[in-house]
Amino acid sequence: MKLATGAALSGFLPDWVLAGEQLANVKKSTEALSDKLTPLKDITAYNNFYEFGTSKEDPAQNAGSLKTRPWTITVEGEVNKPRVFDIEELLKLAPMEERVYRLRCVEAWSMVIPWVGYSLAELLKRVEPTGKAKFVEFVSLEDPKQMPGQKSATLDWPYREGLRIDEAMHPLTLLAAGLYGEVLPKQNGAPIRLVVPWKYGYKSAKSIVKIRLVEKQPVTSWMKAGPNEYGFYSNVNPAVDHPRWTQAKERRIGEFLKRPTLPFNGYADQVAQLYSGMDLTKNF
Ligand code: MTE
Repeated sequence: MKLATGAALSGFLPDWVLAGEQLANVKKSTEALSDKLTPLKDITAYNNFYEFGTSKEDPAQNAGSLKTRPWTITVEGEVNKPRVFDIEELLKLAPMEERVYRLRCVEAWSMVIPWVGYSLAELLKRVEPTGKAKFVEFVSLEDPKQMPGQKSATLDWPYREGLRIDEAMHPLTLLAAGLYGEVLPKQNGAPIRLVVPWKYGYKSAKSIVKIRLVEKQPVTSWMKAGPNEYGFYSNVNPAVDHPRWTQAKERRIGEFLKRPTLPFNGYADQVAQLYSGMDLTKNF
């Protein structure tokens, strides 16, 4: 499917945004999600990527300055085989497949996105986590020359996120390099990012340069910014409100009426057992 052409589609967006490059050998999605896909234009023009500004239009306008080559991801810490992976190698590490995931942002809007990538577990198993690897920390690029938003202290840069090791190894956790069959647009976290569909969108760190396996729970950028508002787990939970707004409902981008938010963003059958016995109001 070739989507990245035509002025009609791009509308007000800068030209580079949709100068898409097809990804080769992508296995089609096997999961039949009944949700309608969010149009490419909304996925690429309504973003949170604070490295390029805090408004939803900023990333599409400003991310042109991001250089996605050369690019490496360093994987280190509690692993037997620490390594630096070049992006070209990462793109071929495991078969790429399309995964249609719901993305639920903490700000109570959502989208349905056909990502392209493979399970993060494919990468992690190659570095052989040790018995002390209890958590995984993800670090995004820090370079204020490319990322003008980093000239302001809106967040503690570089952007950091984290998962428990079993969450990171769960097959749903995706290392994504594309969407709609094409190379990931810069504003969506090129050249490679995380997608954790049962958690609020901010857990899905973009433009990752480092993955660190650690023994202690890492402190994330959002936990530092607002510890009462952003917990480590951040599982989508309609029963636990954000201190400043309800999480019971969400607006699907492109729809008028709000819809109820589902526990674990609709992925409870696959992931709820990871949290059995935990109080998810305390571990929010
Ligand atoms: N990653 C980095 N490095 N910087 C960010 O500001 N924003 C997060 C997440 N990853 C963010 C990030 C938030 S709040 C959301 S909702 C998703 O990216 C948005 O991803 P999308 O723009 O592809 O929809």
